[in-house]
Amino acid sequence: MTRRRRIVVTRTGGPEVLRVDTDDAPEPGPDHLRIRVTAAGIARADLLMRAGRYPGRAPAPPFTPGWDVTGVVDAVGSNVQARWRGRRVVALTLTGGHASHVCAPATSVVELSDTLPEYAAACLPLTHVTAHELLHHVARVRPGERVLVHGAAGGVGTALLDVGHLLGAEMYGVAAPRDHALVEEHGAQPVERGREAFTQADIVLDMIGGATLRASWRSLRPGGRLVSYGFLSTEASPPRDLLRLRLWNALPNGRRAAFYRLSTNARRHPDRVRATLESLVEKLGEGRLHPRIGACVPLDKPAEGHRLADDPTIRGKVLLVP
Ligand SMILES: NC(=O)c1ccc[n+]([C@@H]2O[C@H](COP(=O)([O-])OP(=O)(O)OC[C@H]3O[C@@H](n4cnc5c(N)ncnc54)[C@H](OP(=O)(O)O)[C@@H]3O)[C@@H](O)[C@H]2O)c1
Repeated sequence: MTRRRRIVVTRTGGPEVLRVDTDDAPEPGPDHLRIRVTAAGIARADLLMRAGRYPGRAPAPPFTPGWDVTGVVDAVGSNVQARWRGRRVVALTLTGGHASHVCAPATSVVELSDTLPEYAAACLPLTHVTAHELLHHVARVRPGERVLVHGAAGGVGTALLDVGHLLGAEMYGVAAPRDHALVEEHGAQPVERGREAFTQADIVLDMIGGATLRASWRSLRPGGRLVSYGFLSTEASPPRDLLRLRLWNALPNGRRAAFYRLSTNARRHPDRVRATLESLVEKLGEGRLHPRIGACVPLDKPAEGHRLADDPTIRGKVLLVP
């Protein structure tokens, strides 16, 4: 029997509530395969779930977080082709990825070529798939459109700048002055916080909420689209913001407002989400995406990983390495 180590959120709280447990690795179900994880990303959502501040449905403790992994397939279910064994893969797991082994539906994983750097690939599933979904499927961006991105120095923010650039949009990134150079490195024009209303954008992507969401709506050109996908501001009220989006959308003013959640869409449209991940992996191989790695931390030091992922001076994905 293969043994597994996994991070467990024992109760809601600070990084000290994280524990590393050892148990038997799960056997894959008939349509699943098991991945021996080589790198797993820590997401803002993992920190929010641990702290009990996640605005969506979060698993109740004890649970193992972890949205995305890379690794090697070490077991396959009865309906899965044996050729998958030993293949290097990347997967959007949504939960359970912070472990030495995790099972995933065979139809959701994407194979990595021998030359693809797996730590860079581990940065893609949550942030870049979200970015592609927001821009392509929800906002339906067109080449030359002006796109304003909040939290532009963050994980999804930098992914949006890269993906928007690939889709031919003119990208603007709201960030603190210390991050303006980073926004420029991703081919976008930096915008100071509080000045976004002057941008007059075709598309605004907002994960701050509250007063920022209201400013985002005001900064839309006629025909513009606002997509909200988070509520990081302490003064944001998710139910009130969601109601506002619905009301704005109903106004006969030619502008649209929507809310998007990757986990819901990954369950509703698994083929689309997998195809998106596959195309992003291809673009990474072509050197057209530039994910940032902030730090690599041993899986056995989850509290250190969470502290680094919460440190605003560290830009880029913090990866857990089993
Ligand atoms: N709906 C979905 O499908 C989906 C998918 C992925 C992520 N998300 C959500 O998107 C959000 C961002 O995720 P991420 O991975 O990009 O996080 P991240 O890497 O931590 O980046 C967050 C960025 O937002 C900025 N920020 C934080 N609080 C702010 C505030 N009150 N006002 C202005 N800027 C603020 C941060 O800048 P400073 O560090 O300078 O404060 C940072 O640049 C999270 O809420 C996450 O849960 C949603």
